[in-house]
Amino acid sequence: MNFSTFFSALAVGFFLTTVASAQTSSSTSSPIIIKFSHVVDPDTPKGRAADFFKKIAEERTQGRVRIEVYPNSQLYKDKEEVEALQKGAVQMLAPSLSKFASLGVKAFEVFDIPYIFPSSEVLHEVTEGPIGKNLLRRLESKGIIGLAYWDNGFKIFSANREIKVPSDMKDLRIRIQSSKVIDTSMRILGAIPQQTAFADTYQVLQTNAADGAENPPTNIFTQRIHEVQKYGIITNHGYLGYAVVVNKAFWETLPEDIRKILEQAINDAALFGNENAFQENILSLVRITLSGTIQLYTPSPEELTLWRKALHPVQKEVSDRVGADLIKAINDVSEKHGFMIE
Ligand code: LMR
Repeated sequence: MNFSTFFSALAVGFFLTTVASAQTSSSTSSPIIIKFSHVVDPDTPKGRAADFFKKIAEERTQGRVRIEVYPNSQLYKDKEEVEALQKGAVQMLAPSLSKFASLGVKAFEVFDIPYIFPSSEVLHEVTEGPIGKNLLRRLESKGIIGLAYWDNGFKIFSANREIKVPSDMKDLRIRIQSSKVIDTSMRILGAIPQQTAFADTYQVLQTNAADGAENPPTNIFTQRIHEVQKYGIITNHGYLGYAVVVNKAFWETLPEDIRKILEQAINDAALFGNENAFQENILSLVRITLSGTIQLYTPSPEELTLWRKALHPVQKEVSDRVGADLIKAINDVSEKHGFMIE
């Protein structure tokens, strides 16, 4: 063996030993744990997207990351989960967009303005484009990184009294999630908004502590709200969506390659979840109707116009809170898609 063959053999041997020991150390060192807490049932668009994310993220990181998903407010209710994220007690959440206002980023409540998204194309151009990205960036000063938007769908009303037109909402006590924009919307309809944690919604309706509520069909069905409400109306008056967020300090400790894999997995889970959300909301409407416990009313086009008109003043009323420029930017996207804005 000449010198150069000897040194090549030595180099190969060294390389193989290093790879082998790196593999042993990566397979024996404990995985990075990500606690992902959320408030809904696993069988909802958010629940399914979170479980899908867990599956692909764990596969793609080959055991270097373990995602622990805690559904159904098992760890925290709405308000506490955001605090827990900031403190680092959990690392990931997907709160509804409304719930970021409690952190001081009130602009997120723009998503709560009734009928502001005339189509899912408009909605997705907003969330995937500069408007959505800019909103997520605003979370950084709160110690939070926004990774992606996940859909649920459009909300319908349920109540213990029949509702067909906006004036039927008068004096109804409606459970809402924390959002000043939703609060304003209910007051404009003559209803009395009652802010309650999602986990307590079934109970407040069952005990008649509230008369009605609003949510997309998937949340109504999985929380069995249709079992404690006699009437519903398919108004599709407001959007419910989520931002997947991670604790910034934790995120910055992760190796670059892991962050890249997780980012990709979150985006893949968004595609999976959004498709699922669309189908599951239709299926949940069917399931709710077939349950026979609730009478669902489909408003006529004329009645829907009444709902849009009644709720239109909300845009003006909340423009100082969420930003007139932001509302205009979203309306511009709608116009670009051929929708008329009054
Ligand atoms: C609600 O509080 O009604 C929703 O935001 C719950 C959720 O996360 O879908």
